[in-house]
Amino acid sequence: MKASVTAHKDFTVATIDDRVYGAFLEHLGRAIYTGIYEPGHPTADKNGMRGDVAELVRDLNVPIVRYPGGNFVSAYNWEDGIGPRDKRPTRLDLAWHTSDNNAVGVHEFSDWCDTVGTEMMLAINLGTRGLDDARNFVEYVNGPTGSYWGDLRKKNGRAKPFGVKHWCLGNEMDGPWQIGHKTADEYGRLALETAKTLRAFDKSLQLIVCGSSNADMKTYPEWERIVLEHTYDAVDHISLHMYFNNRAKNTANYLALNHKLDDYIATIASTINMVKANKRSKRRVSICFDEWNVWYHSNAQDRKILEGNSGWPHAPRLLEDIYNFEDVLQVGCILNTFIRRSDVVKIACIAQLVNVIAPIMTEPGGAAWRQTIYYPYYFASLYGRGTALNLAVQCPGYDADVADNVPYLDISAIHDEKAKTLTFFAVNRHPTEKLDLRVSLEGFAPVAVIDHRVMTHEMLTATNTATDPTQVAPRKGRGARLTNHTLAAALPPHSWQMLRIDLG
Ligand code: AHR
Repeated sequence: MKASVTAHKDFTVATIDDRVYGAFLEHLGRAIYTGIYEPGHPTADKNGMRGDVAELVRDLNVPIVRYPGGNFVSAYNWEDGIGPRDKRPTRLDLAWHTSDNNAVGVHEFSDWCDTVGTEMMLAINLGTRGLDDARNFVEYVNGPTGSYWGDLRKKNGRAKPFGVKHWCLGNEMDGPWQIGHKTADEYGRLALETAKTLRAFDKSLQLIVCGSSNADMKTYPEWERIVLEHTYDAVDHISLHMYFNNRAKNTANYLALNHKLDDYIATIASTINMVKANKRSKRRVSICFDEWNVWYHSNAQDRKILEGNSGWPHAPRLLEDIYNFEDVLQVGCILNTFIRRSDVVKIACIAQLVNVIAPIMTEPGGAAWRQTIYYPYYFASLYGRGTALNLAVQCPGYDADVADNVPYLDISAIHDEKAKTLTFFAVNRHPTEKLDLRVSLEGFAPVAVIDHRVMTHEMLTATNTATDPTQVAPRKGRGARLTNHTLAAALPPHSWQMLRIDLG
């Protein structure tokens, strides 16, 4: 099978916002406890944070991490996580039917963010709480000393404001499962008043209003229209979430799902434009895709805890999806979609980062290792920065549940003018045929192929485990050639690739 692609230097989409490679950590299962935080662990630092995990996170160059939820945030009292640890209460977490001793709160999380070189993005409880809590929280986190909340922060060990820029106004407020779920009008009003209050404190904050929990919600996309009608001129981003699954065990349909993601983004981009026009607004609201990933492998094993049949365990194994090689292809396609829609998706967060539907897994007291999906995320975060190109792609396709004529080739391209490189991320969706790729490079002066990585495996179900952590890993590619202005490479069936070209 053949695919031909044209990449023109001037045919661009947008500058990719670094925040597209963000992540998410929730007080859920073992994401925090025995994930990033485990005081007795041999690699733990003086704050009890695992050094082995911090190293794997640091390598990912994550620009921003959303915290502390998720569904958890909708019944969270942030004050429970400040002050002396031995005075912090243990609370029942109603979202996940567990308990939390609050050993980690905003101070500890901020220190960890400094350790791994990332920035925190905080979510506010608009489920059980509201305006007053929001203003107190933002003043505690960012306010000056000499005021009540700033002085309390100082007393708790931190005089300097945390300086958090990004604030999520609640989480998945459209979802009936959410504690404090609201209609679009109820939420839109509350979000507007919260945004006004936070802006009265600091105009420069980046505010994120809740969009739909997924594109199958009955209220989608009317939810976004109504919420934006209320909030458009007061917010910066609208949040979207989407999780992918192959419960049906149909790889072709599974690997076409980013076409549904593409439609979802396009629909909300249009909704944003419509509200913008209705309001005669100059403001350009963008999309913050602050939860995305594959999530289904662990559903059955989680049922007992989620149905409340295990009591209220602290940090149990929950949402511990063990990812396989097939998921590498899926995550590669999702990241390609975000790159191709970098005109409107300005923040995205892989959900989540450690143990809970995550690229990094740990054993309490034991090892930390990279799941299969770590790699496409790693390479995109490292080399997917620059200008996204609008590629012309010609390739045979197949009909799937979510779309017809889904091309076997899924590809994105990034021109990094500073590094003088051109990077392609490509997935061959074909199960049995290799793809002969020819890319015509127009307006570039390509010098050489400087890196070629391939991920492929004879078993789609292959996984990485504590005892065999490198079953699924990238290897050096062979045979990619540059002749004048044409890049040629053969992409094996069911494979992910990265091809990088030096532009001299
Ligand atoms: O990431 C897991 C959960 O998925 C989050 O808590 C929630 O926001 C979403 O439904």
